[in-house]
Amino acid sequence: MNSQRIPLIAGNWKMHKTIAEAEAYIQALLPKVSSCEGVEVAICAPFTALQALVDSTRGSRVEIFAQTMHAGDSGPFTGEISAPMLSEIDVFGVVLGHSERREFYGESDHALRAKVPAALAAGLMPILCIGETEAEHGDGDTQRKLRHQIQEGLGDVADEQLGDVVIAYEPIWAIGTGKVATPDQAQDICGFVRALVADRDPQQAERTRVLYGGSVKPDNAVALMSLPDVDGALVGGASLEADTLAAIIDAAGAG
Ligand code: PGA
Repeated sequence: MNSQRIPLIAGNWKMHKTIAEAEAYIQALLPKVSSCEGVEVAICAPFTALQALVDSTRGSRVEIFAQTMHAGDSGPFTGEISAPMLSEIDVFGVVLGHSERREFYGESDHALRAKVPAALAAGLMPILCIGETEAEHGDGDTQRKLRHQIQEGLGDVADEQLGDVVIAYEPIWAIGTGKVATPDQAQDICGFVRALVADRDPQQAERTRVLYGGSVKPDNAVALMSLPDVDGALVGGASLEADTLAAIIDAAGAG
């Protein structure tokens, strides 16, 4: 963590929580986060719960994010949701390129190249997810993979907007597995990601928030959040309970 960048803790609920469950969770979370200065908090929720969550978090430090979107504003794309549809209801941002979207729904680097600037154009904060598989990790192929993902995902973002994109480094072998990257690994790779942005624009790279994701829990968050190039976390499983997410937010405030 670096004092220039405000840490961001984003809870990614994935396909969990009805509107009623989402409301109950938020009522439990809000009092726990009201006093944690200096940390931004995001909840990435299913589409159906977005409007209710936006309404019940207004004026709080919690911002509401979608988990995906289409690159176009409108068109014949059955089942899809566009950036203007999200910003119309005051959604704050959107997760793009999560490894589950890439693996199960064929989301490509090419599609993300259009989605990241489309989100920015609609006033949404994109969280661009990147990460290597276990096999790529074992083969020493991590840097090549991430370089390609960053080149594509940020390829059509103007230099002066690079720092508005949050990048989440999520090693796929660490997602939902309980196998968290070591602090040394997380620092190495998040520093590498920042250097890739610096190749485009060094000043923007200092603004860019690089999150770590993959089995972040309250007991490993303190070590991860104190690393110089880790500016927060994208949290899956541990975000489903308000208490555990609040503990991770506290760790980021302390880091
Ligand atoms: P996890 O998921 O925290 O359950 O590993 C992280 C993610 O998929 O964003």
